[in-house]
Amino acid sequence: MDWGMQNRLSRIIKPDTGRTVMLAVDHGYFLGPTTGLEKPGDVVRPLLPYADTLMPTRGVLRSCVDASADVPICLRVSGGTSILGDLANEGITVSMEDAIRLNVAAVALSVFVGSALEKQSLLSLAKLVDEGTQYGIPVLAVTAVGKDMVRDSRYIGLACRISAELGAAVVKTYYCDGFEKVVNDCPVPIVIAGGKKISEQDALILASNGIKSGAVGVDMGRNIFQSENPVAMIQAVRAVVHNDEAPDKAYDMYQTLAAEGSDKTPEPA
Ligand code: R5P
Repeated sequence: MDWGMQNRLSRIIKPDTGRTVMLAVDHGYFLGPTTGLEKPGDVVRPLLPYADTLMPTRGVLRSCVDASADVPICLRVSGGTSILGDLANEGITVSMEDAIRLNVAAVALSVFVGSALEKQSLLSLAKLVDEGTQYGIPVLAVTAVGKDMVRDSRYIGLACRISAELGAAVVKTYYCDGFEKVVNDCPVPIVIAGGKKISEQDALILASNGIKSGAVGVDMGRNIFQSENPVAMIQAVRAVVHNDEAPDKAYDMYQTLAAEGSDKTPEPA
């Protein structure tokens, strides 16, 4: 791997722990004004000091995130469909030149293994890897799961391995039973998605299970920004991911921080 790509990956997966807390705020690219993300700038600002990486779309990055923010960006570069259409019918939405102009650390694209459009999405992944390799930009493959697909280790393992085989540098997927085998069979690092909002306790258990099974971190959205107290929640998630904190202890931490009113934008240093 060349120096530039390695350096960008090291900004995302922190070398001191080998782990990462990525904050996903790209949901609007197919969901529109997602609950909790109606004002992305206001939501993201107090969370940035605790995010190892931010995953937005190009539009939100440009219009809602302060360009002086010291956070690596994993830019969502696939889309072209909405929740009203066929979600698998995505294409590449951002040129590599514009991604570089935005000083990204990585680009992210969804693959839809098992859908009628799997070939289209997998060839888009391969194309993006070719383009990224030219400039040292790593690609994160998001293994999207269709409505009719079972999220078991056989399916998730298939999607992750294919993504790695096509050149993804990191894979984002869903936690499932037997996740150790998914991690073991995938030659590149895996981060887990949070999925739909669940209780803070359950989300911390999910993150902990993922880490214990070998994931290098989370790329979590709704379970942070839809939390009663997002700033407390991201800190609790960090404790699980970077310090191997037990989920019950991390939940205590969440409650303490929430009671202290941690959802205030930190004063600039
Ligand atoms: C979905 O395709 C988007 O990439 C989201 O970023 C992803 O689902 C992660 O967010 P959440 O933790 O809300 O599932």
